Amino acid sequence: MVSKVLKKMEVLRGFIQIPAENLCEFIENSRLPCVTMLNGNPARIDKYGRLWSSYLKNRFPVGTEVELSRIENGYKVVLNEGEQECLTSDTRQQEIGFNSSNSEKTVTETCSNAYFQAGTICILNDGILETEAIENNSIDLIVTSPPYNVDIKYETYDDRIPYDKYLEFSEKWLKKCYSLTKDDGRLCLNIPLDKNKGGQQSVCADLTTIAKKVGWKYHATIIWNEQNISRRTAWGSWLSASAPFVIAPVEVIVVLYKKRWKKTSGSRKSDILRDEFLEWTNAVWNFSGESKNRVGHPSPFPVELPKRCIKLFSFVGDVVLDPFLGSGTTLIACLETARKGIGVEIDSNYCKLAVKRLKECGILQQKLII
Ligand SMILES: C[S@@+](CC[C@H](N)C(=O)[O-])C[C@H]1O[C@@H](n2cnc3c(N)ncnc32)[C@H](O)[C@@H]1O
Repeated sequence: MVSKVLKKMEVLRGFIQIPAENLCEFIENSRLPCVTMLNGNPARIDKYGRLWSSYLKNRFPVGTEVELSRIENGYKVVLNEGEQECLTSDTRQQEIGFNSSNSEKTVTETCSNAYFQAGTICILNDGILETEAIENNSIDLIVTSPPYNVDIKYETYDDRIPYDKYLEFSEKWLKKCYSLTKDDGRLCLNIPLDKNKGGQQSVCADLTTIAKKVGWKYHATIIWNEQNISRRTAWGSWLSASAPFVIAPVEVIVVLYKKRWKKTSGSRKSDILRDEFLEWTNAVWNFSGESKNRVGHPSPFPVELPKRCIKLFSFVGDVVLDPFLGSGTTLIACLETARKGIGVEIDSNYCKLAVKRLKECGILQQKLII
């Protein structure tokens, strides 16, 4: 076993440099480079003795001491228990940028009446239209997937209302979120392109128009090719031109901003890697959706979605809001990327689920107290 303090490049790029003096003991008779496993995830050791795995990317904060050991089917890395108190040190918080913007106060105050708060993550059990806990002009980035009005059986919210009422609700929350956002803040809105359940509607076009009406400015639309879904519910007229139905098996992420696209506030530290930037700025994203059963919520998105939005459109230490938190996915992405996160969710059972998922992701070990 070897103890190791993680450097910034190790955290950002997702590797651990095995100290030269321990290398022989660690690789035994293997020839480098070689493939292996790390905590059950695919990994490889390159010829310089660096243990790489996407599992490691942004998993532990910079400056954390971890213990790396050899196990039967590869390697295991764990947080060094004795080091946990160090995670609250000013040094480490500065390193990841948590002290570098003036927005900590906002999150702390917001969280004084929160359902849950740990470090820089907080959950408000409230409706987004009703909540008064978030200060105006305080949010750097909103990443969210609102209800789609497609008759999903949520615990509290009625997801089957007349389309004009749905658009009225959309206008209200888009307006509220506009007030909460900083002048150089952004909104990543995950919605369907269109829908045919309960009548064909151009959801993306309608919500984009409403967002612009309440003040948001349009930047781009990302197509999310969910790969594993079929949105087909009927053929219309089978093998006949009389009235066939067509539907694209994709969703979109509409990217909007408040006043200025150029972001000047915040730490100005980006953590996106070259390959990620190249791939993600091509606005057709291919990755699978999330399983309802696995998460325990009727419509979760995968962590990959908010994680990409956060790394592309915000700086390290920024404040990210999800006004429709659901099972807490956006906050998991905040935890993984060292952003402050606020989630608003109307249903207390979903808040409970979000807390459970955050704990499984190690939120209580992070101790990012501000
Ligand atoms: C599409 S789901 C969000 C799923 C989330 N992205 C996830 O990964 O779990 C929408 C959520 O908004 C919640 N909701 C509905 N109306 C709300 C409101 N007025 N304020 C806050 N949350 C609301 C619902 O309970 C539901 O959990």
